[in-house]
Amino acid sequence: MEEPIRRPHLLADVQHSVAGRELREGGTGPLGEAQREVLGQAILSLSHRAHWVGRRDRDYELRREIQETPPTREAHTLLANLLRDPENFARHLHRFSGASMLETLYGHSVTDDDDEYLKLIDKANDTIASSSAPGAALVDFLPFLQYTPAWLPGAGWKRKVLEARDALTEASTRCYALAEAQAHAGKPSIIGSIIGECSDKGILASEEHEIMQLGSVTYSAGTDTTKSVLHSFILAMVLHPEVYAKAQQEMDTVIGRERLPTLEHRDSLPYIECVLKETYRWICPVCLSIPHASCEDDEYNGYFIPKGTAIIPNLWLMLRDPEVYSEPELFRPERFWALSAEEFERTDPRNIVFGHGRRICPGRRFADASVWLAIAGMVATFDIQKARDALGKEITPRVLYESGFTSAPAPFKCAIQPRSKQAVELIGRTL
Ligand code: HEM
Repeated sequence: MEEPIRRPHLLADVQHSVAGRELREGGTGPLGEAQREVLGQAILSLSHRAHWVGRRDRDYELRREIQETPPTREAHTLLANLLRDPENFARHLHRFSGASMLETLYGHSVTDDDDEYLKLIDKANDTIASSSAPGAALVDFLPFLQYTPAWLPGAGWKRKVLEARDALTEASTRCYALAEAQAHAGKPSIIGSIIGECSDKGILASEEHEIMQLGSVTYSAGTDTTKSVLHSFILAMVLHPEVYAKAQQEMDTVIGRERLPTLEHRDSLPYIECVLKETYRWICPVCLSIPHASCEDDEYNGYFIPKGTAIIPNLWLMLRDPEVYSEPELFRPERFWALSAEEFERTDPRNIVFGHGRRICPGRRFADASVWLAIAGMVATFDIQKARDALGKEITPRVLYESGFTSAPAPFKCAIQPRSKQAVELIGRTL
């Protein structure tokens, strides 16, 4: 008889999917409280320039090297890949998010799309995606099903999870060894710095497994989500050329055509900021956040919620609330333009898309900065338009999304072309 799924080592106030708990044994699923704290300290805020002003010390340089250099370099690689092979833009977005994460987390620089670590961890990630989408498995709602043996008909979710667990164990073990080796070679990374810290405290042996899990959870939490925002951005720009033209106009006025935008320029490009916010809002990257559970009996709007009730926040619906966002179906960045401080805070989709409360996404600032870098680079150097069919007629993509934990647009065609010869040279100079 097969062993039942072990009880989670989680605090009682958080309940993720049963499948997610099972996966955790193999290196993913929700983070434990101690892991969260370590990660929260390691992933430091990066998005706001003011945060760094006057802090050009050694610590600053190290954080910058770990958190800012990989997405900046990968944003440049993304532009080069779009120039070389625009039709496969979705693949390049994937490489952008995966490679930025691999370097930030493990200190490994990806040099081509066939990178063995990228493939290894992506394979594990894909298996998780199909096995742990909240709500996708009946087991989340009928927990007794977790005791069914994997071979029984109908226990497909369990077979998938066990498969994912094996793939994850291999990926997290090898990536851990990679971060260790890179740290010895002087290449800093988040996991490398955590290994160093635990080693200094003499607790590495007991923490090793936790650190491996931390790495794989973070990688899987950060890649598809980041890619999804960029994918939705391209779809929105194909459908709304007037928005893209306005963003390009702002870019040209503020930055000019002779340099690429950097994070230092972010505050001076307010319209592009509105476009990014509207992209988050329009297609929420994680529609149903990770399931939580109430830690006390509670009451909300007259409903009694007993302690331990599973709660799945519907982030998508919050971002379509017509009382906050008028005509929510429309893609309209102007809704975020020239707001009062109160409106700015109340309507910012970043207060929703990254979750809420204690479990809020610890990578949110890193993600927001990475996505901005990629978007601003595209606006500066490419035209994004509708593709044409064999008869020269424009193809208008439909807004269709595939099911899964993150919202990925269904494949669509578009025409991505450099804006000018100057843009081509600019991209060439970054390599
Ligand atoms: C635009 C991209 C991203 C979006 C939309 C996003 C969204 C989310 C959401 C909704 C959650 C669940 C929060 C909750 O339970 O309330 C989450 C959790 C998490 N995110 Fe992100 N995320 C993104 C990128 C990233 C990145 C780049 C990283 C790592 C650098 C990351 C690391 C994590 C981790 C580790 C968790 C689990 C935290 C826990 O279990 O307590 N995320 N994210």
